[in-house]
Amino acid sequence: MSLMLLLATSAAGAVQPDRCEGDCKGARAQVLLQTGVVGRHTFSAQGSGEEFKDVQGVASMSLSDQSALVEDLVTEMLATGQPLTGTQKEIIERLNETFVTETLPELQKRHDSDQELLNVHAAAFAHCDVDLETNSQRVSTLNSDQSSTESVRTECLAQEGSLQSSEKLKHEELTAYLKSLQPPSSMMPEQRAPTPTMDDFVAQNLEFFKSLNSSYVSLKEQISTVEAEVEAKTAGCAEAGLVFDEKFCLWKTGVENAKSNYLNCRTETLTLYSETLKTAHSNAEGRRADLVAVLKVQCYLEMLLDGTTQEKLKECKDAEHTSSAFDIAEPQLIELNQRVLDGLGAPGSRVQCTAAGSSDAGSLYGTYAAGEAIVSLTNTGTTTSTSTTMQSTTTATTQAQYYTAAEGQDCPPGQAVLSEDDCKVAGDSVGYLSWISSFTLSSNISPPGCFWFMVDGPSMPVDFYFNTNLEGSALAGLRFRSFRGGICKAA
Ligand SMILES: *[C@@H]1O[C@H](CO)[C@@H](O)[C@H](O)[C@H]1NC(C)=O
Ligand SMILES: *[C@@H]1O[C@H](CO)[C@@H](O)[C@H](O)[C@H]1NC(C)=O
Repeated sequence: MSLMLLLATSAAGAVQPDRCEGDCKGARAQVLLQTGVVGRHTFSAQGSGEEFKDVQGVASMSLSDQSALVEDLVTEMLATGQPLTGTQKEIIERLNETFVTETLPELQKRHDSDQELLNVHAAAFAHCDVDLETNSQRVSTLNSDQSSTESVRTECLAQEGSLQSSEKLKHEELTAYLKSLQPPSSMMPEQRAPTPTMDDFVAQNLEFFKSLNSSYVSLKEQISTVEAEVEAKTAGCAEAGLVFDEKFCLWKTGVENAKSNYLNCRTETLTLYSETLKTAHSNAEGRRADLVAVLKVQCYLEMLLDGTTQEKLKECKDAEHTSSAFDIAEPQLIELNQRVLDGLGAPGSRVQCTAAGSSDAGSLYGTYAAGEAIVSLTNTGTTTSTSTTMQSTTTATTQAQYYTAAEGQDCPPGQAVLSEDDCKVAGDSVGYLSWISSFTLSSNISPPGCFWFMVDGPSMPVDFYFNTNLEGSALAGLRFRSFRGGICKAA
């Protein structure tokens, strides 16, 4: 009605203002059509006092308003069959120009910028890899550090082992030597006089014991030497173990930090990328819809200029626009760099490291640089070889304090002599051979603590020894035809 009138009158060059009476779309078209200066024609709402805008105003309308406007035009054209006025043609051209020079380029520009942003986010994965490479070089230094300290320790332990074997061998050598000894008869000649027999006796014994002393002392010295070497090596290896543990933990922490930095970096990057991708897709969908609308409107515009028919209208409506112009190209994302991750190494848990610096992703090795205690070390359980060096001093000041238990008997409870020093005094005080060998041993067939021992039956001289095995018993020794008993403290 009113719009029909509007279009008709507008065609005649004079537009009557109309009020919006329910058909506001029509009113919009009306307002547009009556505005502006087009060519020689100036349209104004006569006497209405309304503000009118330039025909250029169509360029600043929203796309949906623009297409609504065009659809209204088409509808009215179909209804009236009137040719287009000059103003309407101007509007059509202006609209087309807007599409071609502004709307479509703007859509393309926004699409390009979305795509570019998405590409930037995708490229950010590479930064994670660059960091990982840098960290992996540091970790590799730490790895070779710990690996070489491990070699040092391993070599040390091997040397320690071989020294221990040679210590054992020396002991065995001494034992074998002592066992092989064939002492000359200790039975003194019956005739106590300077006889050749006595000369022989003295000479033989002297030679034997000289040689025994010399070999015996030499073998014992060799044992002490190797014992000292074992002790020094053991201490050195414990030190090497500490160094290794520390280096190992530095490496382990380095590996853990490099891994978590990398994975965090990728997670954060992926989150941003995914958000961007989602938005880009949603933007692209909107732009495709805009493009389809523009193409459809352009088709209408073409039709309006060429002559509007139902057939052409149907063609414009049904036209399929499958444009890939605004498709988002999803960049190929850099995959997780498993090769470099694997190259960091797998420290495992050979050493218990305290969790240091794990929360400090920013400065990888700061915790260690500060020199904090980083490892809780496991006790390596070194065996300390006790070398007893007893001097054969004779102190007879405390005689009668000690007594000997019978063969096969331990001291009564509380009377055993349980220190080496006391044992030496005790043995002297009961008149037994002083212990040239300072023999301390661990024996379960001897009385605990200080005890006496007859080398080869009751007719032989008596030695005394010190048994560190508190579970030992003289009774057990009896089964071996071994003659021994406790040297005890008098109650
Ligand atoms: C036993 O031999 C060592 C070393 O040759 C010597 O120093 C020591 O005096 C000797 N002992 C005796 C009792 O002759
Ligand atoms: C719109 O502009 C384009 C490019 O200048 C042109 O090819 C097309 O024919 C025009 N359409 C109308 C309806 O003016």
